[in-house]
Amino acid sequence: MNNPTLQIGNIELPGIALLAPMAGITDAPFRAIAEAFGAAMVVSEMIASANLVARPSKSQHRELVRKLEHKGKLPHVVQIAGNEEKWLVLGARIAADAGADIIDINMGCPSKKVTNGYAGSALMRVPDRALRLIETVVEASPVPVSVKMRLGWNDESLNAAHIARLAEGAGVQMVAVHGRTRQQFYKGEARWEPVREVVEAVDVPVIVNGDIVDHSSALKALAASRAAGVMIGRGAQGQPWIVGQVNASLKGEQPVPAPVGPGLIALVLNHYEEMLFAYGEKQGVRVARKHLRWYFEAAGLELPGETLRALLTEPDPVRVKTLVKGVLDHHGARVAA
Ligand SMILES: Cc1cc2nc3c(=O)[nH]c(=O)nc-3n(C[C@H](O)[C@H](O)[C@H](O)COP(=O)(O)O)c2cc1C
Repeated sequence: MNNPTLQIGNIELPGIALLAPMAGITDAPFRAIAEAFGAAMVVSEMIASANLVARPSKSQHRELVRKLEHKGKLPHVVQIAGNEEKWLVLGARIAADAGADIIDINMGCPSKKVTNGYAGSALMRVPDRALRLIETVVEASPVPVSVKMRLGWNDESLNAAHIARLAEGAGVQMVAVHGRTRQQFYKGEARWEPVREVVEAVDVPVIVNGDIVDHSSALKALAASRAAGVMIGRGAQGQPWIVGQVNASLKGEQPVPAPVGPGLIALVLNHYEEMLFAYGEKQGVRVARKHLRWYFEAAGLELPGETLRALLTEPDPVRVKTLVKGVLDHHGARVAA
């Protein structure tokens, strides 16, 4: 591929490998690392738009401010979810006022909490309603709007192409498709071939998503779907640099090497500090635990049960950092040996 880029409305992205939104994971500190390593786009965690506007409590307000935060140079993409025009429109406006360059509508979330209110992937069961919501958001949004969806609700209703066509007609500028149905949740394998039907149905860029974890799977997903780009979610856990690496290799460039040894220690400890800063110490220590675990898993480290337990229960961040450094130092020594 010869220096491929993506155009979303008037916004040109520096490549075609994007970080997928993951609630509770792709927060500002995580997105900053993915961006620093060369991801072409990063998306904020989903914001339920009723929460955005309906008199949030103090802690909800802090959470919203944190979710809307943007520091990087890449376009700021804010994802909204909801099922009522009024909240979605206000959510889109608040996101745009907070500096969003693109508003993404979530039509892929399988969670019962979200789908019971006919939001997230449940909207795919009611295309007319989905269209009405999309039209209202596009009309109200001063910035380009994209939609993220699944293949359909279940195998009997693979209607992503139909909904993408409606969305394009309403003015949506990009569509991302997770190659699973809602009924699958995250089980089974993602299917990339059916995404091709969506690619053929619309002229706006379509992004393929699901089980893409490296250059090889990105190439396979692109070949099967003919999509314009790829979106990587869980594959970036414990290795937020992977999106940038895939982006570089798809451009025919040499990817920045994954950090190892002292570089990895510095990155993990810096990420830890950023999480403590973003969430406050008490919550930050808790939020950080899953990331630490993923870093060790991605590095192929099997920690003794006792060490892992200590890492995942220790409330004092200073002690956690010492433990992390010790474990990674030891690992670095083993790698060098
Ligand atoms: C913990 C978690 C949280 C997620 N949160 C969101 C979200 O807020 N919005 C969204 O559109 N998709 C969300 N997703 C779905 C991912 O964006 C992606 O579509 C899915 O994980 C498949 O891609 P992957 O195989 O690369 O992970 C989430 C997925 C996970 C695992």
